[in-house]
Amino acid sequence: MDKLLDRIVITKPDDWHVHFRDGEMLDAVIFDTVKQFSRAIIMPNLADAIKTTKMAENYRSKILDSFARLKKNNQIPQENTFTPLMTIYLTDDTKPEEVLSAHSSGFIFAFKLYPAASTTNSSAGVTNLFGNCRKVLEKLQYVGMPLLIHAELPDKNIDIFDRERFFIDRILISLRRDFPDIKLVFEHVSTKEGVDFVMEDTGPIAATVTPQHLIYNRNSLFSGGLNPHFYCLPILKAEEHRQAILKAVFSGSKRFFLGTDSAPHNRSLKENRCGCAGCYNAYNAMALYASVFEANNSIDKLEAFASFNGPDFYGLPRNRDFLVLYRKENIIPDMLEIGKIQLVPLGAGSVIHWNI
Ligand code: DOR
Ligand code: ZN
Repeated sequence: MDKLLDRIVITKPDDWHVHFRDGEMLDAVIFDTVKQFSRAIIMPNLADAIKTTKMAENYRSKILDSFARLKKNNQIPQENTFTPLMTIYLTDDTKPEEVLSAHSSGFIFAFKLYPAASTTNSSAGVTNLFGNCRKVLEKLQYVGMPLLIHAELPDKNIDIFDRERFFIDRILISLRRDFPDIKLVFEHVSTKEGVDFVMEDTGPIAATVTPQHLIYNRNSLFSGGLNPHFYCLPILKAEEHRQAILKAVFSGSKRFFLGTDSAPHNRSLKENRCGCAGCYNAYNAMALYASVFEANNSIDKLEAFASFNGPDFYGLPRNRDFLVLYRKENIIPDMLEIGKIQLVPLGAGSVIHWNI
């Protein structure tokens, strides 16, 4: 594709990692996802984590109801479709049978591993994967349901910038050795070591990549002062890691695909004495990805990354409709106000040159 094109038409993309929350927050954020994506993998880390098929079914109905309200209010075209792909939160107590009921549900597409205390709402997460979850892992491998991994070792004695690397050494290598056929998604890969693992692994594996880990390095956290809106987990890393992620994404490897990790927290909880982790990037997600792909002379790789590699890995059909991106100055607002909710979008105050 010509890099001076001022319009790109791509197969409609999907977001393979998003946080919708529930209640008012769900209603506030769903529009930003459905305006650009046809499907999304919905993360299960609600305050009351989605631990069973029944809970996922209930949460899915809330999402579909919220989507239906957008249509009813004419906020999106009537012909738009959106499919939430549900996930289940793995705990020390998850029963192997839960994998079977999730698998046969038809609407659950993965289990999510949060190491306990690794990130937002992870206190019910897994404390000992091999001690407590072996039977569940066997079933996941057996039915071919992916395990989505928050790949950080949440040990207070490990430097926060090294937690991904330690997770690979202490958990991931053994996981692959013991379960050679389990489908793994290395979520929001943030380090060179993560990229290398995904590139070199011999089993079925892929990684999602966020806009923030492609566009920013850890300096952003401190530029002009402490900026909580760049704080997410895994935390932004040094430039050499960002370069490794860019290289992998632009290599054309099918193992890397779009997952925004859009994680809304009310502004007051970000700008707080103990600010929450998470970047709200859904607002401009595709424009941000287009900008970083273009800046690296790789806009021709955007469609596979955003629209092909994900469904191909999950064994789902590619979308049949299209998304148009066009070149136009796009000043990212300082803040979004939706009812009582205030969100600061990723890149607030900066200017990009793509729009949807
Ligand atoms: O920054 C993050 N925010 N990382 C996660 O893993 C979870 C997410 C959230 O739910 O807020
Ligand atoms: Zn996430």
